[in-house]
Amino acid sequence: MPSRHTFDRLPPADLLLHWLIALATLFMLAYGLIIETLPDDGLTFELVHWHRQIGIAILFLLLVRFLLRCYRPFPPSLSPLSRPEALARKLVHRGQLLLILVMILSGLAYASGVGYSTDIAGLFTVPAYVDGKRHLANWGSAVHELASNMLLVLILLHSLAAIKHQWIRKDGTLSRMMGLGRRR
Ligand code: HEM
Ligand code: HEM
Repeated sequence: MPSRHTFDRLPPADLLLHWLIALATLFMLAYGLIIETLPDDGLTFELVHWHRQIGIAILFLLLVRFLLRCYRPFPPSLSPLSRPEALARKLVHRGQLLLILVMILSGLAYASGVGYSTDIAGLFTVPAYVDGKRHLANWGSAVHELASNMLLVLILLHSLAAIKHQWIRKDGTLSRMMGLGRRR
């Protein structure tokens, strides 16, 4: 078992996956809020199409990340953590990933219910149900909205924790995640 001191640098694949998923998710949260305000026209239809396709791309990134984590768990924190802190770290990390998955699944239900079919990387298509599936759209929309608010709260807590570790505890947590090693 390697000691925690061998974890001063993270593998590039972990860094790339973290920032790709993080930036794509932040982009999608803003994108979703903007398309909600647009009129129901051809441009909005096209924008919702890209919203769905980017969501499916994030699903594949989550899958790769999950497979990578099965083979290589994320290293311990750079500072000693109290029990509640360690639990909060675990819950926030896992909670964010789970909520992104919920966003994608509820988005699929929402899109199907309002009449958009979604192509999953050419492998199969989640069909559109235009008639009699209003409840699917309503349910999908309610979950999509609730999960997006919960996700925003967790991202905020997560970012505040990263800032606290980097600049108050001065343990280099954010530098390590940026690929700079344990620079304080
Ligand atoms: C949607 C946005 C984000 C998601 C889903 C996310 C998710 C995660 C996850 C799951 C981990 C655990 C490492 C892993 O298993 O790969 C992690 C670690 C980390 N994230 Fe994020 N993150 C997001 C945004 C951010 C932002 C905006 C920052 C910076 C302000 C940040 C800074 C960090 C740092 C510093 C770590 C390492 C924590 C440690 O060493 O204990 N993340 N993130
Ligand atoms: C990380 C993934 C995703 C994020 C962060 C995200 C975020 C959002 C947000 C914030 C909204 C606006 C408010 C709301 O109703 O919640 C929205 C709307 C929407 N999302 Fe997503 N979404 C994601 C994935 C998906 C996926 C995969 C689909 C469908 C396959 C989808 C379909 C929709 C639809 C149909 C709307 C309504 C657009 C309209 O008003 O016409 N979303 N999304």
